[in-house]
Amino acid sequence: MSILVTGGAGYIGSHTCLALLRGGYDVIIVDNLSNSNPESVARVEELAGRKTVFYRADIRDAVELERVFRENSVEAVIHFAGLKAVKESTEKPLEYYENNVGGTLSLCRAMSACGCKKMVFSSSATVYNQSNVSPLTEDMPAGETTNPYGTTKYFIERILADLCKADQDWRASLLRYFNPIGADKSGRIGEAPNGRPNNLVPFVAQVAVGKHPHVEVTGTDYPTPDGTGIRDYLHVSDLADGHIKALERLMKTPGCETFNLGTGKGSSVLEVIAAYERACGKKLPVVKKPRREGDIAVCYSDPSKAQKLLGWKAEKTLDEMCEDSWRWQSLNPEGY
Ligand code: NAD
Ligand code: WQD
Repeated sequence: MSILVTGGAGYIGSHTCLALLRGGYDVIIVDNLSNSNPESVARVEELAGRKTVFYRADIRDAVELERVFRENSVEAVIHFAGLKAVKESTEKPLEYYENNVGGTLSLCRAMSACGCKKMVFSSSATVYNQSNVSPLTEDMPAGETTNPYGTTKYFIERILADLCKADQDWRASLLRYFNPIGADKSGRIGEAPNGRPNNLVPFVAQVAVGKHPHVEVTGTDYPTPDGTGIRDYLHVSDLADGHIKALERLMKTPGCETFNLGTGKGSSVLEVIAAYERACGKKLPVVKKPRREGDIAVCYSDPSKAQKLLGWKAEKTLDEMCEDSWRWQSLNPEGY
């Protein structure tokens, strides 16, 4: 069975392509490489011992998409392609709406035209209203987003829900990821951010490898046990497996469904740093900083719907996530 993976050269996409290949699926990738390197695809193929079909193309390019669907018999699409930097989205909102929302519309049009109407979509816990109290369940209020990136995710969820309502042949699985970290245990693929990482773990990884002098802990006065923010970190390989489970359900279940993908367990910034110190065997200097604008104290999932309906559960511990991140980072200090 052939699966088209948009954004398959990226961080989560590459791990999911590996899981798909290992699971016996044929994989077609469409990626414009705006935030990735084709070496990730080469390494995925090397790890799986199988090839993908790769198109360097933008999902907004209708002609290219039409070619991809003409040249391959695509059963379903896993749609990762998009821009994801929260702060950048506040500076360049039009780029985010055009790339994420415009790109998805273009993709859906191409899919409809060729009769391929099954999509697994990368949504985010960021769509939940900040007033919700964790653990977050899928039926809690969403859409009061605080930045254009989050709004694009919410808009796309609505577009896909409307599409499934209007056309019974359309099916979508909206996966709300919490905080994916870590890397494949081979250390061959991982997260390779351009420039200074915005997210905690990639930054901690760069401190551990000596690229920055210390970790800045943004917010130490939250109403949490150690004063730092609590998030639901999950291993990217567990997340990749969640996509296979979502795909399996999509094949037999009509309509549009939403799932949280998280562990259900929150960890503080200081707990993450301590786990990383255990993984890399060094003390990591820490500097206290004020709260980051737009951050909340606590955010973690209730993942029981995914467990019940997808048969998926995140298995890996925070220590394993940090060990695997460190293996990737220390073997590939410059990324790909
Ligand atoms: P990533 O940047 O590593 O991967 C995205 C990929 O999409 C990149 O390879 C990029 O080159 C490609 N891309 C971007 N715009 C494109 C376009 N118009 N046409 C073709 N390719 C395009 O990001 P990631 O961390 O792997 O995230 C994957 C998806 O998951 C994104 O949609 C992101 O918003 C979502 N998500 C990520 C996180 C996270 O913490 N990493 C959390 C929740 C949701
Ligand atoms: C985690 C914690 C920070 C950096 C973001 C997006 C979200 C989703 C996942 C895509 C917070 C603290 C951070 C640092 C720190 N992405 N921190 N020092 O903000 O939960 O989620 O990524 O959908 O939309 O917003 O993740 O890793 O940035 O922060 O102390 O240098 O680490 O304050 O408490 P976040 P994060």
